[in-house]
Amino acid sequence: MEPIKYAVVGTGRGRTFMHPDPSFNMKFVAVCDRNPKKLAIIKSENDNEDKTLETYTDYDEMLEKADIDAVILANYFHEHAEFAIKALRKGKHVLSECVAMGTLAEGVELCRAVEESGKIYMIAENYPFSKQRMEMRRLYQSGELGELLYGEGEYCHPMHEPYGIAPGEYHWRNQIPSTYYCTHAIAPIMMITDTIPTKVNGFVPKIEDQSYRGNEVRLQDPGGIIVCQMDNGAVVRTLQGAFRTHSMITRLQCTKGAVEQDRGDDRITVWHESRDRGDQPKFRSYMPEWPAEFASQAAAAGHGGGDFWVMYYFAEALKKNEQPYLNVYRACAMSAVGILAWKSACNGGACYDVPKFDDEEDRRRYENDYWTPFRKEGEDDTGMPPRTLSPWCPPEGALDKAREAWERNDYLGLGWNKEKMDEAYAKLQI
Ligand SMILES: NC(=O)c1ccc[n+]([C@@H]2O[C@H](COP(=O)([O-])OP(=O)(O)OC[C@H]3O[C@@H](n4cnc5c(N)ncnc54)[C@H](O)[C@@H]3O)[C@@H](O)[C@H]2O)c1
Repeated sequence: MEPIKYAVVGTGRGRTFMHPDPSFNMKFVAVCDRNPKKLAIIKSENDNEDKTLETYTDYDEMLEKADIDAVILANYFHEHAEFAIKALRKGKHVLSECVAMGTLAEGVELCRAVEESGKIYMIAENYPFSKQRMEMRRLYQSGELGELLYGEGEYCHPMHEPYGIAPGEYHWRNQIPSTYYCTHAIAPIMMITDTIPTKVNGFVPKIEDQSYRGNEVRLQDPGGIIVCQMDNGAVVRTLQGAFRTHSMITRLQCTKGAVEQDRGDDRITVWHESRDRGDQPKFRSYMPEWPAEFASQAAAAGHGGGDFWVMYYFAEALKKNEQPYLNVYRACAMSAVGILAWKSACNGGACYDVPKFDDEEDRRRYENDYWTPFRKEGEDDTGMPPRTLSPWCPPEGALDKAREAWERNDYLGLGWNKEKMDEAYAKLQI
């Protein structure tokens, strides 16, 4: 089989996807980013063996000209759907970073575009693929735990790096409401238990102490708390956002037992009460192993191995020409949770239905729902939803200070340092 030729869009997180394992039968042939210096450096560091890696500053031009079968999207957080839809309409497969879309209407359009194109779509949600979550899925699917009653998922990630990673007043990291980055918390539970969220409530702490803020202009509450009803009737609570301490655990209470990931040492603990445990001990704690065949690749990959498995399952879907588990419907449902939880938090914790993204009749109700708190530079934002509910606004002079820092950082974002970039670029010009 000819290798699948693919392009990466965005060179922050996007760099994770530039070295496919040989078993994937995928070839990295093009890269797109607005910043030409980044592109030159990426080409010098990641070119393929025949030195034919193409670089584009314009996404539409790349879709027009590059000889590619697939795109991997790692552009701005809330702008993936537009890029994915364009690619699908040009007959390209899509692996999209989280989240799938910024509005419910875009989710509807994305599902239709996947169906109309017949192309593979997968969300690059890597948190279900840690050792612990893969073992939890194995356990749950074996029937040992029974059925999900209640789950907890957490993805709390304080950001202490003040300006470089969030370059610009309108950069997505400076205006993302604290419920939006929810897929790392909810996707593992969806995948372990084969459930989908159907109803959502959201809340945020509204406090005076603002010391959690990564920078003085970030418009974000300390964290988001989401409660979902799942399609089997179970209830799931997720935590996400900046909070003050990192935490990335999953915990399930089921009809025949419980399992949770330990906070301290990453082992998992499984337990059953006497009437459910047969010969099992009440508690067993252990560190799961990777599947032997890909143990070394997974152990070497980022995000607890998840970065390997995301590409692995995308490649498998392409080889089989079958939609992956993390298909467009699950992608849109998990992304809708963050949007609806924010709407809920803005409306006193009201409960909202998650659209049934695989049902055209239900989808029609949301096809014009462009509700979003994300602003664009220069746009009149009268009447738009807030981005934070805390009693806070940037202190005087904070924006000027931030702008100075952004000038120095040259709007670079994740993983880039201006001095090092300029140095590397200067060497390329000699
Ligand atoms: N799954 C994970 O573990 C994980 C980790 C980090 C980031 N992410 C996701 O990856 C995405 C990117 O994150 P990041 O931290 O790299 O963001 P970033 O803002 O640092 O980088 C985005 C890159 O996309 C480029 N870009 C944006 N719009 C473009 C356009 N129209 N044309 C060409 N290039 C464009 C920017 O120049 C920048 O280089 C986000 O959705 C984020 O949620 C996921």
